[in-house]
Amino acid sequence: MTSYQVSSCGKLYIAGEYAILEPNQLAIIKNIPIKMTADIYFSDEYVISSDLFDYQVSLDSSDKNYAFLRTAILAMNAFLETRQITAKPFTIEIKSQMGDKGKKFGIGSSGSVLVLVIRAYSALYQLNLSQELIFKLASYILLSQGDNGSMGDIACIAYDTCVLYQSFEREKIRQMMERSSMSEVLSAEWGFKISPVNSKLVATFLVGWTQKPAISSQFIEKVKTCIHDDFLRESQKNVMLLMEAMENGNQHKFITILSQLAQLIEDLHPDIYNKELRQLREDCRGLNAIAKSSGAGGGDCGIAFSFDKVSETALMKRWQDHDITLIYKENLYDKS
Ligand code: PMV
Ligand code: MG
Repeated sequence: MTSYQVSSCGKLYIAGEYAILEPNQLAIIKNIPIKMTADIYFSDEYVISSDLFDYQVSLDSSDKNYAFLRTAILAMNAFLETRQITAKPFTIEIKSQMGDKGKKFGIGSSGSVLVLVIRAYSALYQLNLSQELIFKLASYILLSQGDNGSMGDIACIAYDTCVLYQSFEREKIRQMMERSSMSEVLSAEWGFKISPVNSKLVATFLVGWTQKPAISSQFIEKVKTCIHDDFLRESQKNVMLLMEAMENGNQHKFITILSQLAQLIEDLHPDIYNKELRQLREDCRGLNAIAKSSGAGGGDCGIAFSFDKVSETALMKRWQDHDITLIYKENLYDKS
């Protein structure tokens, strides 16, 4: 029996969080190559397992831990039907590196597992799904579940690279889902844009984990009433400028714009920069480095860019002293 292995990455927001919840806004979201993997093969019955739990289930199980995976699988079986393909039972084994001792890093594991399941179907049934269709399918499934996110995480994970994402009118698509078939909705023009960012910025990118979990959907509910036109305009302008600075490799401009964006987010709601994220950011003081919260904030991870080796070492030491765990580090645009 042929077995297929697929994987999916994590993601972190560099800029544009919260603003991206409004249609047509922009965000830059970076892929984090901390992976989830799935092995999938046809079997006599459905066997679903994830290393997050120490047991496996069948498709008809009502186990709460597996509810999201089950939803994804049922939706993908419905998708197969739109292509006149008969769904057959399989075994899927999922492994995740996106946490430590049962604690999640908050780098997009739920979006990642969804993209993972879709990729697993694509491999198992030889569907050769495009990145765009994977994005739409994952968004479709999340929208049908009443998810309140912007789908920026899905955009990054489906394209598996750092992307500039322009959001679509989710309410319009949700309404379309009520009156149209799945294949009609999937073939419609949704109005989003996803393009890879060709950054030439020479820097070390660092991810610090605060070890405090934060639930994005709850933060969205709390913060959304604070999102006003001025905020949206400022965010949009600066995300475009940041993108330009990245593509031109303009370090000075990048630092100026990113610190404005960090401030904009800090001013949006007092809970976004919690104690740990404040510390993570302050640890860049006096260094040739800059840090900010990423995504919803209130915990999870913050990001930093360092521009020389001494600053990088000093920042890592300070984070360590302050119980901020370095979970990922990457030399950006390193041509050596
Ligand atoms: O905390 P994260 O990485 O899940 O990011 C949330 C980003 C928000 O803009 C606050 C919400 C969203 O879905 O875009
Ligand atoms: Mg988060």
